[in-house]
Amino acid sequence: MELRAQALICLAQTDFLQKTKFVNDLISAWQSGNCNLDTKVLFRPPNNIPGKPTKPDLVSPKDVKRRNMRTLEGRAVMIHALAHIEFNAINLALDVIWRFANMPEQYYSDWLKVAAEEAYHFTLLNDHLIKMGYIYGDFPAHNSLWEMAARTADDILARIALVPRTMEARGLDASPPLRSKVAQVGDMEAAGILDIILRDEIGHVSIGNHWFNWLCKTRNLDPINTYAELAQQYEAPTPRKPFNHQARLAAGFTEQELVWLENA
Ligand SMILES: [Fe+2]
Ligand SMILES: [Fe+2]
Repeated sequence: MELRAQALICLAQTDFLQKTKFVNDLISAWQSGNCNLDTKVLFRPPNNIPGKPTKPDLVSPKDVKRRNMRTLEGRAVMIHALAHIEFNAINLALDVIWRFANMPEQYYSDWLKVAAEEAYHFTLLNDHLIKMGYIYGDFPAHNSLWEMAARTADDILARIALVPRTMEARGLDASPPLRSKVAQVGDMEAAGILDIILRDEIGHVSIGNHWFNWLCKTRNLDPINTYAELAQQYEAPTPRKPFNHQARLAAGFTEQELVWLENA
């Protein structure tokens, strides 16, 4: 089996249990040397991606339910929204593996690790939802993460700049206030899940930073100016303050980049 072809097959899987199992089997095969890598092959984008279950219904972000954390349903809506982000994140990591050719082997191996961790996050959240009497698919969700992926499908530099370094990095900022909200209402299990996710997401953003800077270096581009241009060109969402400086620095953003962000 070949890693990038398998990533594409996995991306097309619609069932979330099958998709998470596929990712886990794929990383085991890769780590045990039972999966090779063809960095050169170009795949034609099929029209069945990303594979997703018939539920949740996808709606505009303004139609996503509000969350009152004091009610069980409100908390379930919030956990569901996070599970949906993680489900998308599995697809996003798989997508950069099959889509972009001619990168070093480490690039593919890094994103496979990300896909496996996203599958783990999804499973933690969905299992928590099940304990609360719900399951992934029970509430409507929005599609803005994948929309950014679609907009940047033809340009690896834009994709890495705007998905891991923008959308995923926003997760680092969103995590501490969310964690304190769930802890406040006594859901310590959810707080523990958020801790695991934050720890791993620092790694994902750091992988994004690494490959963005690598691409800039190979193309002789200045990372800050290039990011600013791409953010404008692709209408990246405005970053929301306050930023999680500590997590962003740990994820490889420079002080200079954080200063730029504060003034953006
Ligand atoms: Fe995640
Ligand atoms: Fe992630």
